[in-house]
Amino acid sequence: MKEYLGMTLNEFIIRRQSDFKYATGELSRLLSHIGVAAKIVNREVNKAGLVDILGEVGTVNTQGEAQQKLDVYADSQFIHALRASGEVCGMASEEDDNIVTFDNVLANDGKYIVCIDPLDGSSNIDVNVSIGTIFSIYRRISERGHKAEEKDFLQEGLKQVAGGYVIYGSSTMLVYTTGRGVNGFTLDPSIGEFCLSHADIRTPESGAIYSINEGYYLKFEDAIKKYIKYTQEVDKQTKRPYKARYIGSLVADFHRNLLKGGIYIYPATADAPNGKLRLLYEANPLAFVVEQAGGMAINGKDRILDMKPQDLHQRTPLIIGSTNMVNKVMEFIENK
Ligand code: AHG
Ligand code: MN
Ligand code: MN
Ligand code: MN
Repeated sequence: MKEYLGMTLNEFIIRRQSDFKYATGELSRLLSHIGVAAKIVNREVNKAGLVDILGEVGTVNTQGEAQQKLDVYADSQFIHALRASGEVCGMASEEDDNIVTFDNVLANDGKYIVCIDPLDGSSNIDVNVSIGTIFSIYRRISERGHKAEEKDFLQEGLKQVAGGYVIYGSSTMLVYTTGRGVNGFTLDPSIGEFCLSHADIRTPESGAIYSINEGYYLKFEDAIKKYIKYTQEVDKQTKRPYKARYIGSLVADFHRNLLKGGIYIYPATADAPNGKLRLLYEANPLAFVVEQAGGMAINGKDRILDMKPQDLHQRTPLIIGSTNMVNKVMEFIENK
């Protein structure tokens, strides 16, 4: 894989077409379209302080959150790019109440659907902190030639054919998997291309970082409280006390932990029994990536990728990261 370093995303996708179990050219084109939309969103994110794109729109999304201008902008960019791709018959987004179907012959013939969190880390937009986009691609199960249906989107995460994210950070990266390892591409602004910079990412089995919003400590169940205590105890062998790191943009917290080793937890709380994060738009794509990198993702009971979604905007607790660390949390949950 090292020989591919520096290769552009498009070149890489074409060379690796044999990764795809299904008709290859289509998925390749689709991934390229996602890359283009990401570059457009990146351009707006980069100049956000200079143009009128910061702040709230004044609307509330179906999750009950105030939509930021960039949430809405990114959502419409991805709708636009995916509609134009001709490979996708519909999209489900954190920002849209219902599935978005693309009503033209080309799109209705599309084999794929996309679930997306167009802009992750809304609360960090206005303060110049890393944000992201999270996406996953499934093969439709409804009949081709017709509109996409909700059942196309309610598939288990293990059915993903591709999943990944873009991080708009100190540099912009696109990281994705098609089920044969994880690769990361850094945007080279001088040529406007994502180039392979992180080939075959493997996450460490153990790390020394824990990421959880401890402000909600009193609302956590006992097992999570005990685990937090565990992270703070001193033990050389397990590199404790762990470092606490919490950006508040899932993509950024996840990306750091993926590369360095660590655990991210957004558990159930007394106010939110299913946690906050969305199964389709956040948990599933990152679970696919982490597993492909050698890590784990669970909801506190089951593997995230085995969950059968009942609802587009379903939430789930998420415990994700280095295998030994996720297993340790599981021990606390089982022994509570
Ligand atoms: P989004 O901006 O897409 O709505 O996602 C927000 C998420 C996620 O990015 C982050 O990890 C989490 O919300 C933070 O929530 P808390 O402020 O409750 O910790
Ligand atoms: Mn949101
Ligand atoms: Mn999000
Ligand atoms: Mn979002």
